[in-house]
Amino acid sequence: MTDTPPPPANAYWGGRFAAGPAAVMEEINASIGFDQRLWRQDIRGSLAHAAMLAKCGIIAPADEQDIARGLAAIAAQIESGDFPFARALEDIHFNIEARLTERVGEAGKRLHTARSRNDQVATDFRLWVRDAIDGLDAQLADLMRALATRAAEHAADPMPGMTHLQSAQPVTFGHHLLAYVEMFARDRGRLADCRKRLNECPLGAAALAGTSFPIDREMTATALGFDRPAANSLDAVSDRDFALEFLAAAAISAMHLSRFAEEIVIWCSAPFRFVRLSDAFTTGSSIMPQKRNPDAAELVRAKTGRVTGALVGLLTVMKGLPLAYAKDMQEDKEGVFDAADAWALSLAATAGMVRDLVPDTARMRAAAGAGFATATDLADWLVRVLHLPFRTAHHVTGRLVARAEAKGVDLAALSLAEMQAEEPGITQAVYSVLTVDASVASRTSYGGTAPAHVAAQAARWLERLA
Ligand code: ARG
Repeated sequence: MTDTPPPPANAYWGGRFAAGPAAVMEEINASIGFDQRLWRQDIRGSLAHAAMLAKCGIIAPADEQDIARGLAAIAAQIESGDFPFARALEDIHFNIEARLTERVGEAGKRLHTARSRNDQVATDFRLWVRDAIDGLDAQLADLMRALATRAAEHAADPMPGMTHLQSAQPVTFGHHLLAYVEMFARDRGRLADCRKRLNECPLGAAALAGTSFPIDREMTATALGFDRPAANSLDAVSDRDFALEFLAAAAISAMHLSRFAEEIVIWCSAPFRFVRLSDAFTTGSSIMPQKRNPDAAELVRAKTGRVTGALVGLLTVMKGLPLAYAKDMQEDKEGVFDAADAWALSLAATAGMVRDLVPDTARMRAAAGAGFATATDLADWLVRVLHLPFRTAHHVTGRLVARAEAKGVDLAALSLAEMQAEEPGITQAVYSVLTVDASVASRTSYGGTAPAHVAAQAARWLERLA
């Protein structure tokens, strides 16, 4: 960025001003440091606006051609990295307009007819968020594909299913991974909803009241891929719901990513050792030679903080703002950019870890049987075969667990005589339900962890995501 000294008075409102801004005024006022990320959207919006002005007879066709030619040259210059962004020109809109006028003269000065930076920035920012939604949606789909692929591989591999992080009932690793596929599918749904409501065009609302020029708002809306023009000019320039909805979707998805990252951290820890990440997704320690740290998972877990912070930050900026535009709203962008970046990076890192991780299926299977994880299967057997009421069966099983625990053995290691001491009706057949494989295979209710069901769900997802 060049620090060209500000002109004595601002070139855009200098008519009414005798002097330029204080240095600190320029510093607090400028957004070019971050809103240069809107340059593609700004040029797209200006091209659509100029074409509409010409078609409606508001500017001459020759002016439109000059504007289009100038904007194309500016796009190429920005792309190549040698566009002289100037802080004295405040934001991306003034930077581009100033260079356009330098290049094409009078025509450049006509571009801002029937437009304000208020509807301009609202349009640019919507376009940017819409592009971000499309990119993130594709990344979510990619992560879901990675998860469903691994789920199909491990549809029948048991692991401990937990509640309260205590062994509860065995589940399969594939089933566990597919739980996250459901979460990320809902995240995509939230993005789709957000996109639907976002897709109205503010351009033509001008500063706040609309314009006296005979513009065609349908034309610019269509040219920019919006479903329709926004219906109320005050709302069009002061609404940032689309950014808030995007951030809310981001915060919920970051929370999902964080929960999964936390599980990876736990699964990688030495006492668990359920999965191993390759060197590609692991770091070492400068002092402890044995360490393999899951830093990527930890950072995905941590990035939730900045994403949630961006949501709370923008809600706080917007609350209490009277209609219509206020400069406070310039603070809408950095949080959204940062959250979108963090979300995209977290999705890429998570997809990488999912494809990379090697589960230790033997260890997971052994752990799945520990902690009397098949106690519910025993209780269910007492209900199904001996017709005990479930509460009674629960009590009998509790006593058997207490016996096994006192002996330091699993339920299946109790003798039939020991079983019958608690419930005389128990037969040898009970042992068939006490293995983890029998346990998971029996969970055939819709949505349950039975391997056949998990395999079918994984296949269904892979087909839908193909
Ligand atoms: N840089 C400003 C923003 O991001 C553009 C809109 C400025 N509008 C105004 N009336 N000062 O919000």
